[in-house]
Amino acid sequence: MPSFDTERLFLRPWRESDVDFVFDLYSRWEVQRFIGRVPRVMESRAEAEERIERLTSSEHPVHGYWAVGRRDSGALVGTVILKSIPASGDVLPLEPSADIEIGWHFHPDAWGNGYATEAAAVVLDHAFASGLTEVVSVVTPQNFASQRVCTRIGMAHRGQTDRYYNETCELFVATQPPSNSL
Ligand SMILES: CC(C)(COP(=O)(O)OP(=O)(O)OC[C@H]1O[C@@H](n2cnc3c(N)ncnc32)[C@H](O)[C@@H]1OP(=O)(O)O)[C@@H](O)C(=O)NCCC(=O)NCCS
Repeated sequence: MPSFDTERLFLRPWRESDVDFVFDLYSRWEVQRFIGRVPRVMESRAEAEERIERLTSSEHPVHGYWAVGRRDSGALVGTVILKSIPASGDVLPLEPSADIEIGWHFHPDAWGNGYATEAAAVVLDHAFASGLTEVVSVVTPQNFASQRVCTRIGMAHRGQTDRYYNETCELFVATQPPSNSL
């Protein structure tokens, strides 16, 4: 999984030493309220340690879970994710679909600075440069900030879908720009 620098941000793999940030991020209701069918906050530091273990275990060359931080201070501000999206279905855990999703979770102290947009855009560029032709994002209908990020990075709104996660979500799709086509 490659690392990236943008104008203001760095994106790199998670490290064990990021555990306090991960706990601070995912123990907040304002971060978790639109995530998952039954949203819940992280309740212990041990859960944060397990999460980091999971996030660092993937060795996929294109997909990834990036820790995002500010280049000026080094402080972490959030995460961008590129991975297979689970298909809706009757059997749990849900099986991955053939589609790839992009997602983002940022710390409330960092919201409103365009950080999610800036970090997601570089991951989307990476996805297309790596040969993916389509990337989707699914967003809870009430999550207007996240839908705005989708639009700002050039994803097209395709209405609602219940194809993924056993949920009804707003579907956004990015397709490989023609200039990158083979
Ligand atoms: C969604 C999220 C990542 C956005 O982070 P951010 O760094 O503030 O995003 P940006 O600053 O890049 O852009 C936010 C955009 O949403 C807009 N926005 C913010 N709150 C909004 C709201 N309540 N309604 C409509 N638009 C809103 C902002 O104005 C901005 O758009 P603009 O640049 O055109 O003005 C952040 O709110 C978050 O982490 N939420 C919790 C986790 C989550 O829900 N993740 C998405 C799951 S699908």
